[in-house]
Amino acid sequence: MQPRLSPSSTSRIGFQPPAIGEEEIAAVVETLRSGWLTTGPRAAELERRFAEYVGARHVLALSSCTAALHLSLLALGVGPGDEVITTPITWPATANVIVHAGATPVFADVRARDLNIDPDHVAALVGERTKAIVPVHLAGQPADLDPLLALGLPLVEDAAHALESVYRGRKVGTISAATCFSLYATKNVAAGEGGLVSTDRDDVADAIGSLRLTRRADGARYDVTTPGHKTNLPDVLASIALPQLAKVELHAARRAAQFALYDEAVDQLDGIEPLVRDPRDVHALHLYVVRIDAERAGASRDVYARELADEGIATSVHFLPVHRLTWYREHFPEQERLPEAERAGEEVLSLPLSPAHSEDDIARVAETLVRVHGRLRTAA
Ligand SMILES: Cc1ncc(COP(=O)(O)O)c(C=O)c1O
Repeated sequence: MQPRLSPSSTSRIGFQPPAIGEEEIAAVVETLRSGWLTTGPRAAELERRFAEYVGARHVLALSSCTAALHLSLLALGVGPGDEVITTPITWPATANVIVHAGATPVFADVRARDLNIDPDHVAALVGERTKAIVPVHLAGQPADLDPLLALGLPLVEDAAHALESVYRGRKVGTISAATCFSLYATKNVAAGEGGLVSTDRDDVADAIGSLRLTRRADGARYDVTTPGHKTNLPDVLASIALPQLAKVELHAARRAAQFALYDEAVDQLDGIEPLVRDPRDVHALHLYVVRIDAERAGASRDVYARELADEGIATSVHFLPVHRLTWYREHFPEQERLPEAERAGEEVLSLPLSPAHSEDDIARVAETLVRVHGRLRTAA
């Protein structure tokens, strides 16, 4: 079948293309010419700059946010026999690392308004075996951390979406035992792959420092004090992240303009609503997620995604509930059903968003969504 293209849609609009400029290209060339490819001066500089940006005592650069989450759990002593409470509305890595640590993931439901973990449900799930809580700041909206901190358990924050986020006046990255950021290709600071973990705790930083490399160097000698992983960040990638970090505000301003265009368009659409952003917080504007109520919007999320794809517009889903994915269903049959998360998994759709997109691109997405909504509501 030929894709249906409207007269104005001449090119495909990607979901989250990276915003790479001449600065990033020059930085990579310089690193390649330096003769030092793996972890070295650029990774150390990124750690220093990010620690200043976030305002944390320690920042460690790692190969991914997944590695940062995994090593943070290990640094806190999470292991076999322990339970870790997390949200199902996340990328599966958040739960996978709990399994990698040998512990049992326990999923709490989310709140309908922002799809972040529900602190009341977390409180009800805490038991003798609970060792840590892993909240996720979905789309860039901080999870409600105060009631989670009040439970007296260490938090490992999954801040893959939340690089710029501030929770009630406190910068995300300075609040709990460990906060993990992602430098994946689509993220607000993108290196292709990579992760950063921030902590004010010397013991956590020291443990992650030992765990991220096979061995600990000590002058000409080396030693193994713990059998380390191989999760360091190479300088080639750190040299992409450095100019990206320098542009963090410029890129956030472009995404803010895109959010405003979407807000205006979606406001007119019955049955399509963006996730709620709490005015008390700074939202990192990482994803523009709408919920599509099939009854009121005339068709399901999947139909909307297909119609937009036919018009040359890429979308994505953040997220399918992890506890309903095959491996988790099979291995944790005792996990209770989570109605809010399961409903959200059917309804969420993320629209294109990137500083690499022009306002015209986003205006075209918004106009197309309005047109598709009109068509599907009429057909229903
Ligand atoms: C919420 C969330 N957590 C964790 C990750 C994993 O990040 P990484 O790809 O850097 O390991 C992602 C990646 O997309 C994510 O969206």
